Amino acid sequence: MCGIVGYIGKRPAVPIIVNGIAKLDYRGYDSAGFAISENNRFVSFKTKGKLENLRKRIHGLSFSGTRGIAHTRWATHGKPSEKNAHPHFSHKKDIVVVHNGIIENHTALRKYLESKGHHFSSETDTETIPHLIGMFYQGNLENAVVAALKDLQGTYGLAIMAEKENKIVVARKGSPIIIGIIRTGEYIVASDVTAIGEYTKKIVYLSDGDIAVLTPKGYQIFNLEKKEVNRKIENITWSLDAIEKKGFAHFMLKEIYEQPETLANALRGKWDARRMMPKFGGLNIPEYDINNLQRVIILACGTSWHAGLVAEYYLEKFAGFQVEVEYASEFLCKMDDLGSRDLVIPISQSGETIDTLMALRKANKFGVYSLGIVNSVGSTIAREVTGGSYIHVGLEIGVASTKAFTGQIMALYLLAIYLGRVRGILKGAQADILFKKARALPGLVTEIFKNERTIISIARKFKRAANFIYLGRGLNYPTALEGALKLKEISYIHAEAFPAAEMKHGPIALVDRKMPVVFTVQKDDGYEKILSNIEEIRARKGIIIAVVEKGDSLVRKKADYIIEVPGTSMFLSPMLNIVPLQLLAYHIARLRGCEIDKPRNLAKSVTVE
Ligand code: M6R
Repeated sequence: MCGIVGYIGKRPAVPIIVNGIAKLDYRGYDSAGFAISENNRFVSFKTKGKLENLRKRIHGLSFSGTRGIAHTRWATHGKPSEKNAHPHFSHKKDIVVVHNGIIENHTALRKYLESKGHHFSSETDTETIPHLIGMFYQGNLENAVVAALKDLQGTYGLAIMAEKENKIVVARKGSPIIIGIIRTGEYIVASDVTAIGEYTKKIVYLSDGDIAVLTPKGYQIFNLEKKEVNRKIENITWSLDAIEKKGFAHFMLKEIYEQPETLANALRGKWDARRMMPKFGGLNIPEYDINNLQRVIILACGTSWHAGLVAEYYLEKFAGFQVEVEYASEFLCKMDDLGSRDLVIPISQSGETIDTLMALRKANKFGVYSLGIVNSVGSTIAREVTGGSYIHVGLEIGVASTKAFTGQIMALYLLAIYLGRVRGILKGAQADILFKKARALPGLVTEIFKNERTIISIARKFKRAANFIYLGRGLNYPTALEGALKLKEISYIHAEAFPAAEMKHGPIALVDRKMPVVFTVQKDDGYEKILSNIEEIRARKGIIIAVVEKGDSLVRKKADYIIEVPGTSMFLSPMLNIVPLQLLAYHIARLRGCEIDKPRNLAKSVTVE
């Protein structure tokens, strides 16, 4: 989604800010632009499409300005075009703004500003911001920004410059902004830490309502009442290796292959042998309160929501909770009344998904405990929960989430065992077995990679399919949903997933000799039933591709194509079964020549509602 980078210091700004937005391109965008102050005059360039177009536009030009802001835009209000790309200027062109988020009252603001004679050059909601700031501007940028922000409704991460003042002002509400301290007098600002890592490890996360002024003399943070606030300087711990492909053709493939390591990391040092339960440092819930809890409400979107569906089984079975898994956006539409017996678990890779953040904020108003299962350290969701656990799978660059999915499931598996032990539902010996089985998982995932050739040959057969159906039962219904999501995200093939038995209540009408149907088959209580579901598809001449436990001769006889995975417990099976489905989607997309790491229309972190 949109990305912001700004720089103020001693060096020419253009290479730094353009390099910075290039680091954010994995988030998805459709146009890019920047503005710098060159001898106290603004110079700005914007182009539609890839950053390469912007680079070509400025090729051969030299810029000496040491202050600038840049942006990658993911269209919301107004189509992707050069005129809608950021930065946007005030009426007198003396204020320039880049913006992430959405200004909800932009129609009323635009009408008002036009009635005052302002002329707008784009269709965006953003353009109202520089016009409004320009209207309040009397030579002090931060004063004008504070006045303008009071009239804005919606969300924003902003970087703003005035032509005649050597400063950058940034502000945030609902959309992240961080300050990177290169050295005193040299600062970089961004919407995502990835843009900053090359220049500094020292960062300051702004909170909602913060406004910061950066000059070559230092920086100051204050709030809308102009009261100074202190935000601590934190150190980035992840290495820049994460943003290298390390010989893999795509980040997605690299991230699929990282799963044995990320799963092993999730388990390392997590077992408390004395108490026979997983260790959790940051849950921040006293054990007596855990016993009082009755209901868990999981809030998430997309892949994280699928991880939540798997966790529903864990939390019910191991810890005796009543569990509701909500799409975060739908939770916002409900009239829920939460109370002291409810626990809220937001799940988010990025920690910035606005639907999940808004749902968490709604839940937090009831004063409930909230445990975040988050990957991105220091992200907004991680900071607004009462406690939680990072999944520590490292930076995920591919827009299609892979290692974060298995990392989330593993974190939730451990959390459910922990809560089950505290609540006296699991005995120490049972928890011990569950943990030991999980320890075998990284090795089992590695075995699946040996089947990649089989998966590639299946991908070759079906690369031109128009539709796919994915079916699974119980814990592997979420696996089917996630497999279908992966395929549609990166190959643009229409794919739907259903609980295997539900298929005969409607979707079976779609099955004919051209329809590939992917089953994930687990040898659990539902095994016999899923065999019948396979027969039902066979009878309609559908093409059966089955992910099965090694040595499953019954399914082998019925299916057209088989992908074997090693046997594991029913509870852990989603983390294994998803791996061949990730690879199948990847290879189909590769053979179709799709842009795998940055699929069309998608963004890595969805920061608009
Ligand atoms: O960062 P989050 O986990 O909150 O993101 C939620 C979804 O936007 C995300 O999982 C999305 O569905 C991915 N593109 C899936 O591959």
